[in-house]
Amino acid sequence: MKQQNIVIIIAMKKDLEKEKELAAKEAVKYLKDNTIIGLGTGSTIYYVIKEIAELVKNGLKIKAVPTSIKTQELAISLGIPLIDINTVDKIDITIDGADEFTKDLTLIKGGGGALLREKIVASMTIQEIIIADSSKLVEKLGKFKLPIEVVPFASTYVHSKIKELQGKGEIRHINNQTFLTDQGNYIIDADFGFITNPSELSIALNEIEGVVGHGLFINLTQKVIMGSTDQVIVFEK
Ligand code: A5P
Repeated sequence: MKQQNIVIIIAMKKDLEKEKELAAKEAVKYLKDNTIIGLGTGSTIYYVIKEIAELVKNGLKIKAVPTSIKTQELAISLGIPLIDINTVDKIDITIDGADEFTKDLTLIKGGGGALLREKIVASMTIQEIIIADSSKLVEKLGKFKLPIEVVPFASTYVHSKIKELQGKGEIRHINNQTFLTDQGNYIIDADFGFITNPSELSIALNEIEGVVGHGLFINLTQKVIMGSTDQVIVFEK
């Protein structure tokens, strides 16, 4: 009986991987020659990076801005040409992942800790495409704890401000070690319950000294491409 359960769980996981791959294959169809592209971070984006590497081998002319050191290293290892973000004033198209999204294209991001660079890149991007498997679509954001990037010096203060906003935060640890972002900051994963007013919460968090970014992405996305079993569903504004 126990073994049966294990088989079911493995089968479900496999399907989500297939959905990520389907969404990735669809998203790269939007890439054009002679453009600057933003490369997101995470397990879904891994499929995009692999696809782009193939396209580049076959002649696609793009330059990519990575959103994390991890993505940067992977892109370099696969021969994707990169460009320094500080030498461009806009990014034509970015493909990134999300931890949760709603049909109005509001997102929670930052599960992989790259939210600050991801948000900067999204802000500079003309067409932000999010790809996701079907587990990421939610009615209301907030089951996934909201990642908040904080300067270590301010972490206790930020905790107390999160409490004032009726949230409960925990500093992210991985393998018993405090997780550090690519900027050397901490992540506080904060539980606010279901987030009924993402814009209000976003503004309140941005006002806290010591918060350098948070994972609520509002009005930054033009399209979400979601894998769903063996097809893709596109959500647009
Ligand atoms: C990285 O910090 C995140 O914003 C990711 O884009 C997000 O966590 C999705 O990651 P997965 O594709 O691994 O689920």
